[in-house]
Amino acid sequence: MAHKMAIIGFGGMAGYHQKNIGEHFPELEIAGIYDIRPEAVQKARDLGIKAFDSPERIYADKDIELVLVATPNDVHKPYAIACLEAGKNVISEKPVTLNSAELEEIIAASKKAGKFFTVHQNRRWDADFLSVKRIFADGILHDPYMIESRVQGSRQALHGWRGWKQNGGGMVLDWGVHLIDQMLNFCPQKLVSVNAVLHQVFAPEVDDNFTASFRFENGLHYLVNIAMNSFIVQPRWHISAADGTALIEDWDCKGKIVKLSDAATLDWAEDIVYTAAGPTRSMAPRPKNTTVELPLPRAEQTWLEYYRNIVAVLDNKAQPIVTTDQALRVMKVIDLVFQSDKEKHGIACSL
Ligand SMILES: NC(=O)c1ccc[n+]([C@@H]2O[C@H](COP(=O)([O-])OP(=O)(O)OC[C@H]3O[C@@H](n4cnc5c(N)ncnc54)[C@H](O)[C@@H]3O)[C@@H](O)[C@H]2O)c1
Repeated sequence: MAHKMAIIGFGGMAGYHQKNIGEHFPELEIAGIYDIRPEAVQKARDLGIKAFDSPERIYADKDIELVLVATPNDVHKPYAIACLEAGKNVISEKPVTLNSAELEEIIAASKKAGKFFTVHQNRRWDADFLSVKRIFADGILHDPYMIESRVQGSRQALHGWRGWKQNGGGMVLDWGVHLIDQMLNFCPQKLVSVNAVLHQVFAPEVDDNFTASFRFENGLHYLVNIAMNSFIVQPRWHISAADGTALIEDWDCKGKIVKLSDAATLDWAEDIVYTAAGPTRSMAPRPKNTTVELPLPRAEQTWLEYYRNIVAVLDNKAQPIVTTDQALRVMKVIDLVFQSDKEKHGIACSL
């Protein structure tokens, strides 16, 4: 028998979940949705999906084991807590809440109810991020000391509620949460400082561009940048490691790795080179034979892994792959991003 689930908030992202589940997961059945918008209700009915006329009807339905909350960000918390108190397991869309204190309330409700709570941090399974992980897991490069992770565009458009503060809009909570979750997934080491600058280039209420710089205990410096006003976009990833550099230009994973070759150990003349900026020895280009260029390791986007894990958790065969501890660490880092921008200096931490 399929596990029955409901969806609260049947907009763009919920449609994506409904399609994935319908096409790939017979183990899950969408028993109904709840949305405050008549168009969303109609969309569900057109798809042959029941529309509950209140969230209380979902809470009261004993057959529903799982609720996915895919509303605007500010109402994730009240829905999640109400569902947990009604004895449902819950998946929340990202950002799970607007700050870590709100998430702690949900975690307490989850513990009290004995039901699981997890967050849809799907970008852990993006091809570009999996490729970054493989560069180091496969030993192609070693000892990264500077990672730059950027997502940039120039549309200058925060759609609907994403532009409003009370709904938890803005880019830190929208895209920042993905890039910070990836960072913490990649770096298990302790985070020791956060320094962030947020901009409101065009949005009246929320951040539309930001850069945050993170320092880890092992010396790794990790930079996260989101721009909605970048008319010349920078690469998705630029990674400096002790023995080479990796470049991933975009989500299609165009890019390359350039690393030291065996010839790098041979003696080679350190001639002064006359560049357009004058003579230099230290910044002169390297002789070609001292480096090799390699393709990026291929990785496929595997977002369906997330649902596979949820089914296994419902079958008591696994624990949630996105844990509440991980989600809480992400939200604590986001708290520090906002604090650093507000106080206009870096914040030391131990996270
Ligand atoms: N994981 C991802 O990659 C990803 C991508 C996009 C959006 N999201 C997240 O999904 C959530 C929804 O985003 P979206 O793009 O689908 O937004 P959306 O505006 O398209 O959909 C939100 C839906 O929630 C409904 N809604 C609003 N207030 C409600 C309330 N109080 N009760 C019930 N329904 C309510 C709206 O009518 C709408 O249908 C957000 O938290 C967003 O951050 C995640």
